[in-house]
Amino acid sequence: MTHPSPPPLPRGGRSFSLTTWVLLAVTWEVDLKLSLRMLDQPTVKSSFRMSQCQELGDEQVTGLVCQEDDLKDGEMREVTVGEQKVLLVRTHGQYSAVGNRCSHYNAPLIRGTLVGDRVRCPIHAACFNVRTGDIEEYPGLDSLPCYKVKVEDGNVYVSIDKKSLNLTRRVKDMCSMSPDIKHTVLLVGGGPASLVCAETLRQNCYEGRIIIVSKDTLPPFDKPKLSKAMNVDSSSLLLRSSDFYEEHGIEMWTQKEVVSVNPADKVVKLGDGTVQHYDQLLISTGCRARPLSCPGWDLQGVNVLQNYEDAKEIHSSCLGRKAVVIGASFIGMEVVSFLSDKAASVAMVGTSTYPYERSLGPEIGKMTMQMLEEQNVKFYMNDTVTEIKGENGKVKEVVLKSGTVLEADVVIAGIGVIPNSDFLEGSGVEVDSRKAVIVDKFMRTNITDIFSAGDVTSFPLAIRGNQRVNIAHWQMSHAHGRVAALNMLKKPTEIKSVPFFWTSLLGKSIRYTGYGEGYTEIIFKGKVEERKFLAFYIKDDVVVAAASLTFEPAVACLAELMATGQVFKKTQAQSDDMSWLQM
Ligand SMILES: Cc1cc2nc3c(=O)[nH]c(=O)nc-3n(C[C@H](O)[C@H](O)[C@H](O)COP(=O)(O)OP(=O)(O)OC[C@H]3O[C@@H](n4cnc5c(N)ncnc54)[C@H](O)[C@@H]3O)c2cc1C
Ligand SMILES: *[C@@H]1O[C@H](CO)[C@@H](O)[C@H](O)[C@H]1NC(C)=O
Ligand SMILES: *[C@@H]1O[C@H](CO)[C@@H](O)[C@H](O)[C@H]1NC(C)=O
Ligand SMILES: *[C@@H]1O[C@H](CO)[C@@H](O)[C@H](O)[C@H]1NC(C)=O
Ligand code: FES
Repeated sequence: MTHPSPPPLPRGGRSFSLTTWVLLAVTWEVDLKLSLRMLDQPTVKSSFRMSQCQELGDEQVTGLVCQEDDLKDGEMREVTVGEQKVLLVRTHGQYSAVGNRCSHYNAPLIRGTLVGDRVRCPIHAACFNVRTGDIEEYPGLDSLPCYKVKVEDGNVYVSIDKKSLNLTRRVKDMCSMSPDIKHTVLLVGGGPASLVCAETLRQNCYEGRIIIVSKDTLPPFDKPKLSKAMNVDSSSLLLRSSDFYEEHGIEMWTQKEVVSVNPADKVVKLGDGTVQHYDQLLISTGCRARPLSCPGWDLQGVNVLQNYEDAKEIHSSCLGRKAVVIGASFIGMEVVSFLSDKAASVAMVGTSTYPYERSLGPEIGKMTMQMLEEQNVKFYMNDTVTEIKGENGKVKEVVLKSGTVLEADVVIAGIGVIPNSDFLEGSGVEVDSRKAVIVDKFMRTNITDIFSAGDVTSFPLAIRGNQRVNIAHWQMSHAHGRVAALNMLKKPTEIKSVPFFWTSLLGKSIRYTGYGEGYTEIIFKGKVEERKFLAFYIKDDVVVAAASLTFEPAVACLAELMATGQVFKKTQAQSDDMSWLQM
């Protein structure tokens, strides 16, 4: 199958008008609609191993892919070698070639943004080095294959080893565990922060013992899918297979809870009373859903969504029944979107006037509300739940402050999260007023050899002058895990990642980058009502964040430019000339 070639994307330096821009976005939408839909949905993964920039074996396929002067610096092209699609890139006058698909959900990287030596995926903003194929920013765990390129007599040739034809991702080389090395890194929590930390340790030749302890029944899994495809099978959720953990000497202890930490003796205590020694500890226990506190919160049929079992339970109990979702923020909105064509009725109760009002603003909130109203979701905004009434221990009605009474078979609450740090009480590990674990830019807590990463942390955000923040993004928790691992290995590395977040509604995705807290103004490009827009969030006259719908790759572009340290003024966001975004 051939992939449609992309519309010509204007490059940096050339100015182009907003109209061109919106037109491009439209072409994109039509062109990418199918694949984008798929890309925000589950995919099954298969991985392979290969050293950086393929050593060629005896048998190889070589293709003449273009003429030397076909590409200018900073340009990319999708070419075919054998039957294999390859991303050919020219930077600093030199050609390189890597896999053409993002290792996260397989998006075509030719649609992404090339800045310097990195290509950034337009879908969820993962980054790959085009010289090495290495993943440099998440989501996704694997790197891209990297192919040999040769330029001869003005012809550009790419060679692929026959054994690795058809392979689209590369697991980085890792060292094995060495039984003689008496050193243990213990990772508490079975999310991406722990997983990436463990893999990064092995990639950097840590040969000691690695133990991941998780309360969950599943080893690390694709949590964002839980609210987007609630009925997905556990096997297609797993980030890594059990063989993978075995092969790389990563002990995966599921259904085990750490109940306390004793830094003086360097041990943790588990729920079953046993203790485990550590030399270095990572606290990456994430957050849990805040439970409802109104009367009736404990009735059967009242749920939160935080693990695989919750998703299964909510899905099966909602089919053909009356669902009431409480909390009009990201998780709640994804749940109503998913249930809208499955439940008999879906009601959403929110305290603000519009969904996501504080984070994204009323305009976007209102538009998303209309999108879901078209799917028969009923909104009860400006309201709050005072009581849940039951019958025979099962939920029956949800009573609102306004007096409205909603019939309900199932209630799902998405009203915020609480850091999982209670087990640290008495350990001396410093937490903030919300009980998030305080770390420095090296992901160190205030206790020697105890690091922390992911949603449970309060960390200094580089793009906000190192203001301490708690950011619960899938991408950021991966980045934390990597930085923690490198610092455990005494390779000083600061957390500099630019936040990126996405959320899916009815097959469309809102993408978000930056940190918009405290913004005072929103500048829109395109039209929110038409569901094709880019929004810039302004604070102190600079762009601090952006959100988009059907405007790829704008938000990924901005993320990459922010990552290079660039700061954009409000006047640039206001201008019709958007060439600064380098789309
Ligand atoms: C339904 C849902 C949808 C989401 N969708 C998106 C999205 O679309 N985009 C996005 O960017 N982000 C999304 N997120 C947020 C994203 O999942 C988190 O940012 C990310 O999972 C955080 O990773 P983590 O490793 O810090 O912690 P988590 O993934 O939360 O993992 C923490 C782990 O620690 C375990 N644990 C807790 N306490 C203990 C203990 N005492 N002992 C042992 N184990 C313990 C937990 O069981 C869990 O396995 C979503 C989250 C949810 C719940
Ligand atoms: C690669 O895929 C093509 C098409 O699916 C197939 O014909 C070919 O045999 C595969 N090659 C290898 C080496 O697996
Ligand atoms: C909420 O209240 C505001 C102001 O009182 C009003 O404009 C808005 O329409 C209300 N929203 C809903 C969904 O009822
Ligand atoms: C860490 O911080 C906590 C809370 O502020 C404090 O009680 C403890 O003494 C600190 N420990 C070290 C080693 O600095
Ligand atoms: S598909 Fe590339 S980051 Fe998700």
